[in-house]
Amino acid sequence: MSEARNALVTGGTRGLGLAVARRLAAEGWSTTVFGLDQGRLEKVRAMARSEGLDLHAVRADVTSEESVRQAVADLTRTRPLHLCVNNAGRNLSRLLLRTPRDGGGELLTHPLDDWERTLRLCLTGVFLVGREAAASMVRHEVPGVIVNVSSGLACGAYGQSAYTAAKAGVEALTRTWSYELGPYGIRVVAVAPGVMDGEALREKSTAFPRHARYMEGLKRFVPLGRWAAEDEIADAVCFAADNPYLTGSVIRIDGGGPPGWVP
Ligand SMILES: NC(=O)c1ccc[n+]([C@@H]2O[C@H](COP(=O)([O-])OP(=O)(O)OC[C@H]3O[C@@H](n4cnc5c(N)ncnc54)[C@H](OP(=O)(O)O)[C@@H]3O)[C@@H](O)[C@H]2O)c1
Repeated sequence: MSEARNALVTGGTRGLGLAVARRLAAEGWSTTVFGLDQGRLEKVRAMARSEGLDLHAVRADVTSEESVRQAVADLTRTRPLHLCVNNAGRNLSRLLLRTPRDGGGELLTHPLDDWERTLRLCLTGVFLVGREAAASMVRHEVPGVIVNVSSGLACGAYGQSAYTAAKAGVEALTRTWSYELGPYGIRVVAVAPGVMDGEALREKSTAFPRHARYMEGLKRFVPLGRWAAEDEIADAVCFAADNPYLTGSVIRIDGGGPPGWVP
């Protein structure tokens, strides 16, 4: 019997990451997710036990170099890593400039802290985990795969300076790493989903009714007339993981649109 292939999915405690991790584990990958929230990590462990999946949950912060180094080292001490899915990320809506609602006072500007936190999670996190995963693959002489989760908004979108810049960076890293890591037999692919009908969208729409109305209106620009199911995007991640001739590409999977995010 051949040994199980090992996969890592960052941000695999909910949403797309969890859909990808469950799918990989069901297909026979020994799968580990990284996340932060202890309650969610425990839920993943309980789910793995009840469904009999080879699925493990580890607390690791992708924004911390030390945490990523330690977690990837622990994971790969005795076995190689074959697949790394850089999925952890979170959207942030902020205008570059905003006039106060009452029309008076100072022009408000995009806080630097929001910019830096979003870049740290969505871009630096991919850099740190991708770097450690690639180094481990080379040390173990494994022709592995890195799949980076981008977004349909990587081309720019209204009110999304930090997030769009981060995701454009993720696509640039994907191409750059495909050149650098190809000679080691490592493939690097990005998957850029449109909006997903998942927990993240539902939470934001519940918290902000204006956002819910805006998103409903935006749906008419999607030729297929609906948002993606997380499993449909997980399919694309698994395709990227399996196809041996795919590298340096961005798989856009967005139901045909919307092309950008406009007011
Ligand atoms: N939702 C969409 O419509 C959409 C569209 C296009 C692209 N995307 C991209 O798809 C990916 C997944 O999105 P999603 O909506 O499924 O996300 P989500 O439901 O908000 O889940 C985010 C995941 O990232 C983890 N995470 C956050 N900060 C972390 C950190 N510092 N270290 C480790 N893990 C961390 C969270 O874990 P904890 O809960 O434990 O903190 C959680 O598991 C993201 O890259 C997102 O940008 C999403």
